[in-house]
Amino acid sequence: MNVTAPVKAPVEAVRVPVPMAMLAELTYRCPLKCPYCSNPLEMAKRSDELSTEQWAEVLRQAAKMGVLHVHFSGGEPAARRDLEELLSVAVEAGLYTNLITSGVGLTEARVKDLSKRGLDHIQLSVQGTDAEMADLIGGYKGGFDQKMKVAAWVAAEGIPLTVNAVMHRRNLDRTAEAIELAVKLGARRIEVAHTQIHGWAYVNRAALMPTREQVDACTKVVEEARERLKGTLVIDYVPPDHHAKYPKACMGGWGRVGLNVTPSGKVLPCHAAESIPHLTFENVKDKPLDWIWAKSEAFNAYRGTAWMPEPCKSCERKEADWGGCRCQAMAYAGDAGATDPACIKSPLHAKMQELALAEAADVPPDYVYRTL
Ligand code: SF4
Ligand code: FES
Repeated sequence: MNVTAPVKAPVEAVRVPVPMAMLAELTYRCPLKCPYCSNPLEMAKRSDELSTEQWAEVLRQAAKMGVLHVHFSGGEPAARRDLEELLSVAVEAGLYTNLITSGVGLTEARVKDLSKRGLDHIQLSVQGTDAEMADLIGGYKGGFDQKMKVAAWVAAEGIPLTVNAVMHRRNLDRTAEAIELAVKLGARRIEVAHTQIHGWAYVNRAALMPTREQVDACTKVVEEARERLKGTLVIDYVPPDHHAKYPKACMGGWGRVGLNVTPSGKVLPCHAAESIPHLTFENVKDKPLDWIWAKSEAFNAYRGTAWMPEPCKSCERKEADWGGCRCQAMAYAGDAGATDPACIKSPLHAKMQELALAEAADVPPDYVYRTL
């Protein structure tokens, strides 16, 4: 009898999408010391930063592989004296350009120059709604006043402005004021974003963790303001994972929508990916960006749905949230391939929420400021 081996169904190849956005973290240097900083605990030194020419090459490669948006970020991108030059390269390459800044390090002349060179959008962070609160949270005296000046220069140039309000226990009760501030500054959009507990923020999580009552009140304020300010201000709302039922599609899915390039040229699927110890990240100094995106081990580790364990594997939401956040799974479950504990179906969900509620109920400890 002729026995033939059973024919295995071919493993479905994971489709490699074209990335839409690249976060260019030009430097980790930053004058602010925010306790919720999401940058990694170990940061690249100035001497390890990519040169102007290396960044220019990354921008050109990104445009060539189909990236549409580049977000210049950091640290504080204005700490790079070649920011203007890099912006021109990006504009020439046909990229939509966004500057994510604390405002510190910008001058009126620099804002005018960036505008002349074709900057499409600015995202300005605010740590609080008055100088006392903002400067305490940012650990930088005079920061709030500087931001107000920057917003006025940006408005004078007609550059579309988004206010990025990072919310947590200390300032969450001021959500309404943050929205009013955005309107006053002429912003078209505000991002009311609850702190993501990654990187340095993990050190401060007890000081940052809001109570459930605070979160519920904030959600109500956002819903009411969205109605009232229709046509004036768009309000993006990022609710906190620790009080949620289901996770968010972190990064829009691993290796699906965007990539991050660190100051030293490492290419990451998300800003916290280096917290996953078994992954190796390629560097633009050694490999082309399109190869890293399509072929590298790190980008393929959690791309698509084939890597998923149960209950994600058979879940109807798996192509909505793409399994949530791998770095959160790493932090709480010790396994980046586990179901995100923010999900109600994770065996760790109840524990994560209990921990969050306990931390939020305690007297908040002092901030541990981020310093370089
Ligand atoms: Fe998302 Fe997985 Fe939870 Fe389903 S089980 S909602 S895919 S994290
Ligand atoms: Fe890394 Fe969510 S921050 S996947």
